[in-house]
Amino acid sequence: MSGDAHRGPAAALRPALPGETPVLAAIAEAAILGLTGEDYDEDQQEAWAAAAADEEALAARLEGQLTLVATRDGDPVGFAALKDNREIDMLYVHPEVAGEGVGSLLCEAVEKLATARGAKSLTVDASDTALGFFQQRGFVPMQRNTVQRGGVWLSNTTMEKILGAPAGPVH
Ligand SMILES: CC(C)(COP(=O)(O)OP(=O)(O)OC[C@H]1O[C@@H](n2cnc3c(N)ncnc32)[C@H](O)[C@@H]1OP(=O)(O)O)[C@@H](O)C(=O)NCCC(=O)NCCS
Repeated sequence: MSGDAHRGPAAALRPALPGETPVLAAIAEAAILGLTGEDYDEDQQEAWAAAAADEEALAARLEGQLTLVATRDGDPVGFAALKDNREIDMLYVHPEVAGEGVGSLLCEAVEKLATARGAKSLTVDASDTALGFFQQRGFVPMQRNTVQRGGVWLSNTTMEKILGAPAGPVH
């Protein structure tokens, strides 16, 4: 958890605010350009970052999704989007705070929300960079995909996690 001694200061979570798309687009772009270089070449990173940072497309994509924003000292540092209560559509953490538990905090909250809303499982099309992260969280690789971003081909892996029973009493 974010309170661990080896992690940075605690992050807080809140729903995304209206009009916050540009900040989220900037986080996605920074995460892709700053964190995925060992797994994707420069052309792939740039095409993926450009697609993810397209503010109009991102606003349309986030509409209807449950989007959680992680903040440090009030500043957004990461976000996760839950689609149709069954798929993690996006998870991005700013490189400046990567490895400090923010991704885990976001993912855990999304898993809990989906569970509370009745989901039995969650899927994610995990980037090669995030594969180990999701595997550590109990997601299992199901299928390898090749997708196009701005005319460039990238690989990812559909992963699935079976969600546990809700912690609280069931009504
Ligand atoms: C994947 C990502 C969201 C992880 O966020 P993060 O805040 O760095 O993750 P955390 O600090 O919570 O990491 C939690 C654990 O996962 C591990 N982990 C993180 N990234 C990992 C990776 N790429 N491979 C293996 N393990 C990883 C950490 O070591 C940590 O382990 P620990 O608890 O034993 O110390 C972030 O690296 C990111 O934004 N990547 C670029 C964009 C991307 O690929 N997004 C996913 C699209 S599906």
